[in-house]
Amino acid sequence: MKKRVAVVTGGIGGLGTEICKKLAEAGNTVVATDLAARAERVESFKKDVAGLDIHFVPGDVGDFDSCAKVVQQVESEYGAVDILVNAAGITRDGTLRKMERTQWNDVLRINLDGVFNMCRNAVDGMLARGYGRIINISSVNGQTGQFGQTNYSAAKAGMHGFTMAMAREVARKGVTVNSISPGYCETALVMAVPEDVRNKIIDSVPVGRLGKPSEIARTVSFLAAEDAGFITGANIPVNGGLFMSS
Ligand code: CAA
Repeated sequence: MKKRVAVVTGGIGGLGTEICKKLAEAGNTVVATDLAARAERVESFKKDVAGLDIHFVPGDVGDFDSCAKVVQQVESEYGAVDILVNAAGITRDGTLRKMERTQWNDVLRINLDGVFNMCRNAVDGMLARGYGRIINISSVNGQTGQFGQTNYSAAKAGMHGFTMAMAREVARKGVTVNSISPGYCETALVMAVPEDVRNKIIDSVPVGRLGKPSEIARTVSFLAAEDAGFITGANIPVNGGLFMSS
């Protein structure tokens, strides 16, 4: 099987790091991208993944030109981008009545514009080569809506609409586009939720616990595989049963 090059945005984050590891274990060359400003986290990431075929290229998914540079740098240093995982995401929770415009704009810019910025810069190469795997990390909260997350729920639901539309546009050219909707996992994002609120959420999860980042990464690796070519425009929930739909 051909060695593929994978780019993971938010690659040094809670889910991102596990996604990088699983994709590398599956035999891919992996490039994590994230803000250069997170220097300390970048250093601990590099230590964590030492010895694996995982690299780091700085970039800001909220900035179109920065995404263009990431794709160019990856292509010149590691090879053409075959797999793109959009895992960069932030929360700026607050009820709508208290939500500042910056909370709305920041979440939409990183979580949704970021997907456009990366896909737009990577798609031409994938189409030209007739191969691509795009995986967008959405959220259960984009399916159900979450109290205090009009911004985040809107961005995550928008991501899935984007996924389905793009999937149709590139389906005949060997490129698949899917989303994954994780539930509440053991990440800093979830740990930032006040403990009492978080415990109530965990109580409502049928499996009775938070998900492990490796359980999300497992699903990414499944969709990124060469023999997943008949799965496109899909959304795979990985949420411990928190939200079930047919
Ligand atoms: N449903 C209905 N009512 C609720 C509620 C809920 N889930 N939570 C709170 N309320 C009620 C409160 O009881 C309160 O009622 P009263 O005014 O009658 O007292 C009212 O709504 C206001 O609530 P708060 O005082 O809690 O409002 P706040 O501004 O202090 O806090 C919040 C709001 C910051 C959004 C807080 O509720 C919160 O942190 N919620 C959790 C949000 C969340 O789940 N974020 C997920 C982050 S992780 C992630 O996003 C990853 C992923 O993809 C899964």
